[in-house]
Amino acid sequence: MVEEEIVKIQAVALERVRGAHLPEDLERVRVEVLGRKGKLAEISKEMGKLAPEERARVGKLLNAAKQAIEDAIDERQPQFREATLRARLDAEWLDLTLPAPGPRAGSLHPITQIQMELEDLFTSLGFMVLDGPEAETEYHNFDALNIPAEHPARDAQDTFWLTDGNLLRTHTSPVQVRGMERFRPPLRMVAPGRVFRNESVDASHEHTFYQLEGMMIDRDVSVAHLLYFMQTLLREIFHRHVTVRLRPGFFPFVEPGFELDIQCFICGGQGCAVCKQSGWVELLPCGLVNPNVLRISGIDPDTWNGFAFGLGLTRLVMMRYGIDDIRLLQSGDLRFLQQF
Ligand code: PHE
Repeated sequence: MVEEEIVKIQAVALERVRGAHLPEDLERVRVEVLGRKGKLAEISKEMGKLAPEERARVGKLLNAAKQAIEDAIDERQPQFREATLRARLDAEWLDLTLPAPGPRAGSLHPITQIQMELEDLFTSLGFMVLDGPEAETEYHNFDALNIPAEHPARDAQDTFWLTDGNLLRTHTSPVQVRGMERFRPPLRMVAPGRVFRNESVDASHEHTFYQLEGMMIDRDVSVAHLLYFMQTLLREIFHRHVTVRLRPGFFPFVEPGFELDIQCFICGGQGCAVCKQSGWVELLPCGLVNPNVLRISGIDPDTWNGFAFGLGLTRLVMMRYGIDDIRLLQSGDLRFLQQF
């Protein structure tokens, strides 16, 4: 009775193994017949009830059945492995005669793009584009800009000092000084570049950011000239007329000094989150060059005067594209950069 059952289980199992189409079919036979709760295990549990000589016979038969089924499974398995491999190799073939796709085209960083646009604009207005060192002397970064050692304005631009007494420039204004030393007036120059401040980083502050400095020295330069150039500049960047206002602002190297605000074009001046409900966005510090600054660089302030401005390139990029976290710009995250 039991023996017949074992023979039948074995026959059915072997039939299933032979007829398997997938590796999963074999696995199912293994679990259902050979497994711990499988059909054969069920029978071994009942063996205690048998007489001893019967038990020996059934035990032998049981082992033989197990062995036969295992062997059958082991024999078929490699065939499936080969078939799987063949299917994969068929799917993964490669045509080596196809032309290579080539490197993916990159794009310029949005700060670089805006910098290049501004360089083009100012070149067309007769300005030269100057470059200056990022590790600056204390003299060029501060003293020559009318900021002596004890002046409180130094505190507003805390920076990284180098062991040789130089520093990482806190603004692009030292390039004004280098421009004046090197080229005599009349002089029109812009200086884009990277600047550094000892800031704790958050959504709107970075220790490393970009500015574009501008300076024009000529005869009888007035605030009207300054405004004309600033409005031309803003129209070029934002591709629309921009309403501006000047507020008094203090910088030791200009007199009078201004903060130039633009009317918020997110809300049109009504007040919103971007302009902090004021209707205006502070964008551009500027002013007429302080006579002391000219004098320090050997230019006679009775003959010459001029204007200067410092444009935050990073700020400008954020305004133009509505970027609300400054840290994205230097994150190196390609998902961010590929949008530009
Ligand atoms: N250098 C100043 C700053 O970084 C900005 C500025 C430039 C102000 C030129 C006036 C004129 O804060």
